Amino acid sequence: MKLSFHSYKGGTGKTNLVGNAATYLVNKGYKVCMIDMDLAGPGLYSLFNLKPNKTLTDYFTKKCSEKDMLYHIGNKELYLIPSSATEEDVIRFFTSPAKAKENILQLIAYLEDECHFDHILFDCSAGILKSSLLIMNIADFVIVVSTLDKQDIDGTYVMNEVAHKLNCKPHVLFNRIPENKIKGMASIIQDFGERLGFDVLELMSYNETMANTWSRNILMDSNPDSTYCVEVSKLLESII
Ligand SMILES: Nc1ncnc2c1ncn2[C@@H]1O[C@H](COP(=O)(O)OP(=O)(O)O)[C@@H](O)[C@H]1O
Ligand SMILES: [Mg+2]
Repeated sequence: MKLSFHSYKGGTGKTNLVGNAATYLVNKGYKVCMIDMDLAGPGLYSLFNLKPNKTLTDYFTKKCSEKDMLYHIGNKELYLIPSSATEEDVIRFFTSPAKAKENILQLIAYLEDECHFDHILFDCSAGILKSSLLIMNIADFVIVVSTLDKQDIDGTYVMNEVAHKLNCKPHVLFNRIPENKIKGMASIIQDFGERLGFDVLELMSYNETMANTWSRNILMDSNPDSTYCVEVSKLLESII
């Protein structure tokens, strides 16, 4: 399954969600590849303590092969294709969005047909960038991560509208909701989502244990019983 994570604003929790969701799936026995599509602010390499010398940028500029930028993480079937913060958007490497789509589909075909990955998770740039819309168009399940911040919700609404025009129906995941408010807010957010035309997924609470990792470890490894991990597990079970 191709699963993608997007947001309008940065800092909504995409990168940590990708890292923890991928770890959850790998622990369940799947072979999983994470792709860092966030060229404006790549973070997965840092979350997994990787010092890559070849990245997606090298691959798209024909400086390396698929194999060279595919890094094995840990001792299970988890892999990462990192990016380096050198460009604004992946699309800039191609003469047209159609060419970009063709190349990304070629990479996905390699990962699915030759490497036999069960799941590919995309960590996309914040904002309504061409690469983010392109991945929305290609993915099987699209998640836009938002907080309850008004700027975020307004932007998520615009993003959702643009996605619908591209025939993509994203699911909105609200993250970082104060734990003592989550029960009371569930039905309000669901109603609100319906009125705005969002398909709202599980709500995820603000979790102190998660916040205190400061992206220095994968909670799914260090503390799988934490509320954050229980919520991520529930989310994944409802998707796959
Ligand atoms: N549910 C949560 N509760 C508390 N802190 C969170 C939660 N989700 C993410 N964070 C924290 O928010 C910060 C930004 O997360 P990150 O995954 O880098 O966001 P993004 O990739 O969307 O910019 C990180 O420090 C992370 O630990
Ligand atoms: Mg990020």
